[in-house]
Amino acid sequence: MDILSGFSRDKSNLMAILGKFQHDLGYLPEDVIIRVADYLRLSPSTVYSVATFYPRFKFIPSGKKVICACRGTACHVRGGGRVLREIEKTLGIRAGETTADMEYTLETVSCMGACVMAPAVMICNEIHGQMTPPRVAEVLGGE
Ligand code: FES
Repeated sequence: MDILSGFSRDKSNLMAILGKFQHDLGYLPEDVIIRVADYLRLSPSTVYSVATFYPRFKFIPSGKKVICACRGTACHVRGGGRVLREIEKTLGIRAGETTADMEYTLETVSCMGACVMAPAVMICNEIHGQMTPPRVAEVLGGE
């Protein structure tokens, strides 16, 4: 069933529609932005500018497993930078990139609300705290 048919053409449905596409596709391709804009009688630039305001919306496909390393102050002072570099080295990608086999995407955040567990890394929505570079292979291997 087409996602759009589940919603009325009320502009207040914009976030719900984008959220449903993001959930089902894992990202918002350009043709979706255009279709949603047409459906709600908005300009594509309006839809795009709303979507880009929210970090949860992605515009390129992510890998099957999303790894999120924290760059916040609490994590930084406890070695979060070294953990991030180890993840980059292990996966062979930099923050913001996806492995060629589409297995992993590496993202960063400024805080994931788990400062007491610093340095923290989220893998597939599960937070791993007190991370160290040697633990990177262990937690990645467990996924
Ligand atoms: S600063 Fe890293 S979880 Fe808050």
